[in-house]
Amino acid sequence: MAGSHFDTKAADWDSNNRRRILAEKVAAAISRLLDGKQLKALEFGCGTGLVGLELAQFFTAMTAVDTSKEMIRVLTDKLQERGITQIRPLQQDIVTEPLSEKFQLVFTSMALHHVQDIDGVLHVLADHLEPGGMFAIADLDENEHSFHNDHSHGFTHNGFNRDTLAEKLQSFGFSVPEFIDVHTMLRKDKDGNEHPFTVFLLSCYKIK
Ligand SMILES: C[S@@+](CC[C@H](N)C(=O)[O-])C[C@H]1O[C@@H](n2cnc3c(N)ncnc32)[C@H](O)[C@@H]1O
Repeated sequence: MAGSHFDTKAADWDSNNRRRILAEKVAAAISRLLDGKQLKALEFGCGTGLVGLELAQFFTAMTAVDTSKEMIRVLTDKLQERGITQIRPLQQDIVTEPLSEKFQLVFTSMALHHVQDIDGVLHVLADHLEPGGMFAIADLDENEHSFHNDHSHGFTHNGFNRDTLAEKLQSFGFSVPEFIDVHTMLRKDKDGNEHPFTVFLLSCYKIK
């Protein structure tokens, strides 16, 4: 997906309370899974690093990838301001240009629903994991309503069915995924009607 929509949002991304609260909840849930382990990690669709920066203490090294140049610019500035050196920000579409290294943890928050070819991106992310490595996905549950109602994002999935995603991941060589309910957000549609959107954290391990 082109980074243009997210480029226009990057400078003000962190000023949105809803995004910060969600990111804190996702990071807290991932940190409970890590249980103090120190890992080499990859974050897909890192944005300005709202989730990744919360988890920095757990990483011996972390590569934070995003296709949006401006998201990566904001993250780079934050890393410099805070003197964080173990996180490497990278503007790259790893779906078309994969990295040569492998990671012990691959995680992503609220990015997958922006990627049309889910099978393709899951295969690519699986390829970036070491055998035994953990895959953690935070995203929207399937919903009859659209989380993004202004079409400025281009294509988006209306969330994911947990069973379908779990079956897919197992067929791609992962252990049986576990799901945690992370957060519920209320959003208004274009007619002003409010709908709940729930967010899950899925975790599983690469077994092949
Ligand atoms: C809704 S934002 C979430 C950002 C961040 N994870 C957060 O929680 O604040 C989705 C992010 O995914 C990125 N993205 C979308 N498609 C991508 C792709 N194919 N590769 C890498 N990043 C992508 C966008 O540029 C954007 O920064």
